[in-house]
Amino acid sequence: MKLADAALLRQKVLIAGHWQDAADGARMTVRNPASDAPVGHVPRCTEEDTAGAVEAAHKAFAGWRTQTAKARAQFLRRWFDLVLLHREELARIMVSEQGKPLAEARGEIDYAASFIDWFAGEARRINGEVMASPWADRRLFTLRQPVGVAALITPWNFPAAMLARKAAAALAAGCTVVAKPASQTPFTALALAELAQRAGLPAGVLNVITGEAATIGGVLTTHPLVSKLSFTGSTDVGKYLLARCAGSLKRVSLELGGNAPFIVFDDADLDAAVAGALASKFRNGGQTCVCANRVFVQAGVYDAFAGKFAPAVARLNAGEGLAPGVDIGPMISDSAVSRIESQVADALARGATVLAGGARHPRGGRFFQPTVLGDCTPAMALCRSETFGPVAPLIRFEREADALAMANDSEYGLAAYAYTRDLARAWRVAETLEYGMVGINTGLMSTAEASFGGMKQSGLGREGGLYGIDEYLETKSLALGGLA
Ligand code: SIN
Repeated sequence: MKLADAALLRQKVLIAGHWQDAADGARMTVRNPASDAPVGHVPRCTEEDTAGAVEAAHKAFAGWRTQTAKARAQFLRRWFDLVLLHREELARIMVSEQGKPLAEARGEIDYAASFIDWFAGEARRINGEVMASPWADRRLFTLRQPVGVAALITPWNFPAAMLARKAAAALAAGCTVVAKPASQTPFTALALAELAQRAGLPAGVLNVITGEAATIGGVLTTHPLVSKLSFTGSTDVGKYLLARCAGSLKRVSLELGGNAPFIVFDDADLDAAVAGALASKFRNGGQTCVCANRVFVQAGVYDAFAGKFAPAVARLNAGEGLAPGVDIGPMISDSAVSRIESQVADALARGATVLAGGARHPRGGRFFQPTVLGDCTPAMALCRSETFGPVAPLIRFEREADALAMANDSEYGLAAYAYTRDLARAWRVAETLEYGMVGINTGLMSTAEASFGGMKQSGLGREGGLYGIDEYLETKSLALGGLA
């Protein structure tokens, strides 16, 4: 890969301020999902390496937590500036390991940088309170203090933004970090760590290690010096990590799976609904946990919506992320393509009809055709669980209450969307949907300023927004006596 700043492609891990190999020298190959060609190698860290990173973070904690909030904010601002300065290299590294189109990768770097910028501001607003004391001789206060070493396990679908959303919050709060990026996409995280170092972050404050999830996760979830675990990924893995963290009662934040309903009512602006459905469903090739997974369309506009949506989907261009004019990259793995294929087969066997796409892409490899299926029902596999691919099932409904009941009939509760011009309905629907995030007349709502997180089996805690920093803070009560 040709990069203007070749040093950003780091093939070592960062522990205690040093770039190093695994203790036993073992490495893993990172491959481009579009071509399967190797991008490079990263260390396969051992349990000892992982414990070393935790100890480095713990050693650095005393110094970092006692820096002023202003100093931590200034570091974050320098990191933010460097991320934007190197936007193009970071985006190209991301495309090579993740596969998303270059324009989306650039957008993700901006999204990642926005969390660093946001938490630079939040660092200076970590305030306690003064309580009305019931005692004449004592005063009561709350202090907000960093929890300690935060372990961050980040996913492959947003290699920059999820690292930034967690790490910037943790660092702003005064925590030190051990981050473990997904094995498929470690280079973006390592490049961000290189920039954090250039921004002047003290050694050991941010450590980034790579390797097998089971080996590293095994240590991060049990090590007594880790106080906090934040994970983004599947619900099954999240539950497993939560159970392991119970032994040492770590604080845990989980951003897990979704099964987002996207409801189009008869009174919707159909062109806006089509644009919103395209944006929500096909972002990152359908590989986000907030992607529309079930598209409910009211009977009066079902045909009109399908007549506009399906041709727009059919026009989406799948290809290698660096090629011009590409809308959708490859899926992350062969198993992801097989899963999508089997969900489509199940839907077709149960009476769905193909309105666009419907099969693997003629390009072969990990490409799947952007697909719309009509006449779907909630019982189909692709409506019961997250597809994580470019397939939109359309489900017809008659009454508002039916749509809401079907939308809420899911163990997940991350994101939901509805299109309507009726203000009373918009409010009713927003209040009734059992989801952590609701978009009315918009298919995109992720931004640093808003809280991101789910209800039910979609997770615990919130990231970004006003509450994201709380996940990395303890509230301490202070009673000051002897004032009589
Ligand atoms: C995710 O899918 O994991 C995150 C998506 C977002 O931040 O919008």
